Amino acid sequence: MIIAIDGPAASGKSTIARKVAKKLNYRYVSTGAMYRAITYRSHKEKVDVYDEKALARIAQKYSVTFVKKNSEQRVMIDGEDVTDYLYTPKVDSMVSFVARSVAVREQLVKQQRSLSKAGDVVMEGRDIGTVVLENADVKIFLTASAKERARRRTKELESRGHYCSEERLIRELVNRDKIDSTRKVSPLTKACGAFSIDTTGKTIEEVVDLIMQIINESSASAKAK
Ligand code: CDP
Repeated sequence: MIIAIDGPAASGKSTIARKVAKKLNYRYVSTGAMYRAITYRSHKEKVDVYDEKALARIAQKYSVTFVKKNSEQRVMIDGEDVTDYLYTPKVDSMVSFVARSVAVREQLVKQQRSLSKAGDVVMEGRDIGTVVLENADVKIFLTASAKERARRRTKELESRGHYCSEERLIRELVNRDKIDSTRKVSPLTKACGAFSIDTTGKTIEEVVDLIMQIINESSASAKAK
């Protein structure tokens, strides 16, 4: 089956998608990590986020790949393991501008579709159910209040050694959501037929169980047809 999970910043997509993939023994793909890798590389090459031509050059020149190291998924670009640089405040502040680029999206969507070719994949992002995998068997749209999302992201950043106040994070998340939802190409929006889950006040396990229930019901009804 092909499972698409979308939602705004820090709504829990990565943690939940990773767990669902593990339960199903499916491949897990974080498309956000791919946009972040291109952003990291653009920053390294001092590319202006408004310079569409330069962004296109980066996206066409380098492909983003995932490799397993010590049973952990690592993100590579141009042979460099960039996993530890993807969630820095710098990349956070730039990524939504890079993700507005038509050329960057074209290249990454191509790579994402090819990653899903073999089937049995859980892919998460902003446009998976609407654009990348429009024919996904199950589509999930995760949401959570801005306060809860900022609280979760503060904890996550702290565990990586970055410190940021919750108030500042709320401002940044809301700003990123605004850019992601109002851009011209593939804006963040709930796909037709997607199941919406508000994760505010729910534990990770509760959300994973809910999604597994949806997947099992969809699979049973597909078999009955
Ligand atoms: O984990 P978090 O919710 O902070 O974001 P992410 O999934 O790592 O995605 C980072 C950024 O990449 C988003 O804010 C979007 O600007 C962009 N993105 C996108 O445009 N399309 C996707 N399919 C995935 C991410």
